[in-house]
Amino acid sequence: MRGDTGEQHEQQALVRVSGLGHAYAQGGQAQAVLRDLSFTLRRGETVALLGRSGCGKTTLLNLISGIEAVQQGEIEIAGIRLTALDEEARTRFRRQHIGFIYQFFNLVPSLTAAENVALILELNGAPLQGAMEHARELLGDIGLGSKADHFAAQLSGGEQQRVAILRAVAHEPALVLADEPTGNLDAHSGQDMLQVLRQRLRAHGSTTLLVTHSLAVAQSADRILTLDEGGIHEHAGDFAW
Ligand SMILES: Nc1ncnc2c1ncn2[C@@H]1O[C@H](COP(=O)(O)OP(=O)(O)OP(=O)(O)O)[C@@H](O)[C@H]1O
Ligand SMILES: [Mg+2]
Repeated sequence: MRGDTGEQHEQQALVRVSGLGHAYAQGGQAQAVLRDLSFTLRRGETVALLGRSGCGKTTLLNLISGIEAVQQGEIEIAGIRLTALDEEARTRFRRQHIGFIYQFFNLVPSLTAAENVALILELNGAPLQGAMEHARELLGDIGLGSKADHFAAQLSGGEQQRVAILRAVAHEPALVLADEPTGNLDAHSGQDMLQVLRQRLRAHGSTTLLVTHSLAVAQSADRILTLDEGGIHEHAGDFAW
């Protein structure tokens, strides 16, 4: 890939997924969702993940972020094996190194926009006042300064999503997992949102795994992976919809 030697490739890898399988217990039976997935995400790259509804995209993101425990296979992030961490350690690891943009915004409704963004900074040890000042500054940068004291219900869907993005990247995580961040937005808000995301990611050099149903969004990524029952496949510039 890009003429890298195997060794360079290894060094550049931020996320290594190998032999990953996952099943949910359904009516007393195990329903397999992911089977034997293996792939690598390199530092600094944006990878789009496509696949039909129900194929396991959110499940995969939940496993990589440590929200869901690995049942089979291995996930390694920056040299740390998630299976070697207990739930508490995984939560700490996620707070420090991962930003998660949920499929459905998921802002804390009892907190204002600024408090939602400041929360991740506080969880990582920043003092309240400093975290709030930084959150207001970040909101100002993306034109939402006047909405800093609005609760989630007082924001439009597009505004909520931009706040959710800031919340995911405020602590400058090495890895950003974005689950259809444009899925519930009109095309214009979706473009606004992507611009905000790209700006922040470029500034931090973060690696991004971006679930999307939009071909335009996917084509703006460095690589495209598709997930289906046969596993995960890479599309290098030959992607036909
Ligand atoms: N907690 C759960 N318990 C049981 N089954 C689940 C659970 N979460 C997801 N599933 C099932 O696992 C499969 C994959 O779900 P997942 O949410 O990962 O799909 P997805 O690819 O993100 O879909 P979408 O594009 O609609 O968001 C689905 O069939 C779903 O019904
Ligand atoms: Mg999903």
